[in-house]
Amino acid sequence: MAKLIGGLGTSHIPAIGGAIHKGLQQEPYWKPFFDGFPPIREWLAKSRPDVVVMFYNDHGLNFFLDKMPTFAVGAAPEYNNADEGWGIPTLPPFKGEVDLSWHIINTLIDKEFDVVTCQEMLVDHACTLPLKLFWPEGDCPVTVVPICINTVQFPLPSAKRTYALGKAVGEAIKSWDSSKKVAVIASGGLSHQLDGERAGFINKAFDLKFLDSLESNPEWATQFSVHQLVEQTGTQGVELLMWLAMRGALGAAGGSKVRRVTGNYHIPISNTATAALALEAVD
Ligand code: DHB
Ligand code: FE
Repeated sequence: MAKLIGGLGTSHIPAIGGAIHKGLQQEPYWKPFFDGFPPIREWLAKSRPDVVVMFYNDHGLNFFLDKMPTFAVGAAPEYNNADEGWGIPTLPPFKGEVDLSWHIINTLIDKEFDVVTCQEMLVDHACTLPLKLFWPEGDCPVTVVPICINTVQFPLPSAKRTYALGKAVGEAIKSWDSSKKVAVIASGGLSHQLDGERAGFINKAFDLKFLDSLESNPEWATQFSVHQLVEQTGTQGVELLMWLAMRGALGAAGGSKVRRVTGNYHIPISNTATAALALEAVD
């Protein structure tokens, strides 16, 4: 069976793509953010996943407001990136892992998560930036199963449901008939609000408590309703649901222990409180 080796998390602000493109990683504004990644890359170089399952939210590139699935799973042989208007370079297509996609889809439907399946799917900055941050050099060495969770148009899935989805995805990965190594990725957050009266809102105390809970008490955030999460983290801070799905996947059958390999928290990049984290699954 496939091996689920761990989970990674990172924020996905479009300006990061611009900074990478312009080589600004060592500039004072950017360094505290980019410094979070070399220890994660070291772990990746040692543990060498073959496949990643990416929990992320599309921001209007593949799904617009007229058609908004709550949970959508990619089942494409490759995923194209396209211009979203942020002024950042588009990336070459990413290779899919079709067999795992269908195994996840079948498992989820069997467990009564009625997901949308996408045999064609454009992926936006939320999917491309984590791959570029974790594997900056050359072609992306992993295949990808993107799982899109709606955090852009209400009603959004609850924290409890999203955690349960993650758990089911973890069970699917562990029962995939393959000798491949799989990592799960959370893309988004942490606290941020891009518009409205609270634009620029950041909640460091909540973010740190949330990050801590991922190690010690992963179900902690499931006590909150989505509206409470918006209150605590901002309208886009609800992207932290991706982190909950990622942690849910690691907590699947076979023990829920994780070891924190490394973590970084930095405020702000653009409007966002950023985090980068690697959790290793402990059998
Ligand atoms: C920003 C953050 C996001 O999560 C996003 O999708 C777009 C922009 C920002 O802080 O600029
Ligand atoms: Fe976002």
